[in-house]
Amino acid sequence: MSERRLSLAPMMERTDRHFRFLMRLITRRTRLYSEMVVDRTLIHGDAARHLDYHPAEHPVALQLGSADPGLAARAVAVARPWGYDEINLNVGCPSPRVQAGGFGVVLMRTPERVAEIVRAVYEETGVRLSVKHRVGLDEHGDYAFLARFVEVVAASGVRVFVVHARKAWTEGLDPKANRTVPPLEHAKVHRLKRDFPELTIVSNGGLASLDEVTAQLAYVDGAMVGRAMWDRPWRWAAADRVLWGDAHAPDRRAVLERYEAYLHERLAEGVPLRALVRPLFNLYKGERGGRRWRQALDAALRAGRLPGGGLAALAPEAGAPA
Ligand SMILES: Cc1cc2nc3c(=O)[nH]c(=O)nc-3n(C[C@H](O)[C@H](O)[C@H](O)COP(=O)(O)O)c2cc1C
Repeated sequence: MSERRLSLAPMMERTDRHFRFLMRLITRRTRLYSEMVVDRTLIHGDAARHLDYHPAEHPVALQLGSADPGLAARAVAVARPWGYDEINLNVGCPSPRVQAGGFGVVLMRTPERVAEIVRAVYEETGVRLSVKHRVGLDEHGDYAFLARFVEVVAASGVRVFVVHARKAWTEGLDPKANRTVPPLEHAKVHRLKRDFPELTIVSNGGLASLDEVTAQLAYVDGAMVGRAMWDRPWRWAAADRVLWGDAHAPDRRAVLERYEAYLHERLAEGVPLRALVRPLFNLYKGERGGRRWRQALDAALRAGRLPGGGLAALAPEAGAPA
């Protein structure tokens, strides 16, 4: 097996560079995935706005949305100088807008197309994409469909498959329901690892704790966590120690101090305060003082600035009443 992995899942409106930076202060080894960026956005838009990140974020992955070999290759050529550790193709998103563009999960129906994209990107840029997909879609719920997808795509050179262990319904369920209604089928992902032992297989979906991640790692190379990292970022503070045996154990006050220094650097560059404070809201969620912390951050946003003592003065451990 390759080195075990824990990853923060790509999430639109969530895993921007600021949340990723916060997660990096909490865990040094977790691989951080960006929000999905569409090929044309990189080719025609303000690439730096979507691609800039802090050097501390490594290992960091960019997620690309594309259905077209030529556009994918051009977009990766644009992104390449930024030095991402991995570029991942989104073959899992069922949102109507993404479906309309012909990319996301509907690409699972045409693994040959995915393979073409992977080959075009490799020929043009030398970058070997990874792929994030589902265990199936619509009427294609059997393991043979999944295994064929992986086989065809692996033949184009993909080595890393991140599998959201649910199938997607392209009609009748909105994206949110598509993350809760179809049942989790991690056993299918485990079977993939048995059938394709040479590939790096990462399991995703519904993993809420380090114990659940550890349980996955008995079967696959890695686990990816989305909502449970956004909802409870501090829950992952033990990740480096538990998964990789590191001595490093982050201290929440030190994390806040470092995040605050980062926040001021970004503010000076014109990043809005709201975008910088948003990742912090859940840092004490479910703990004594957690609600008060959120209220204090809300008040700071209404005032348009942090209070004199900074974030540390607002933190529950500073003695703020619960
Ligand atoms: C708000 C939100 C946005 C998401 N955006 C993306 C995305 O841009 N690309 C992608 O591949 N998956 C996206 N996902 C799916 C997650 O990456 C992940 O596969 C899914 O949430 C299941 O993992 P979890 O149960 O650990 O959250 C998104 C999920 C959420 C909740």
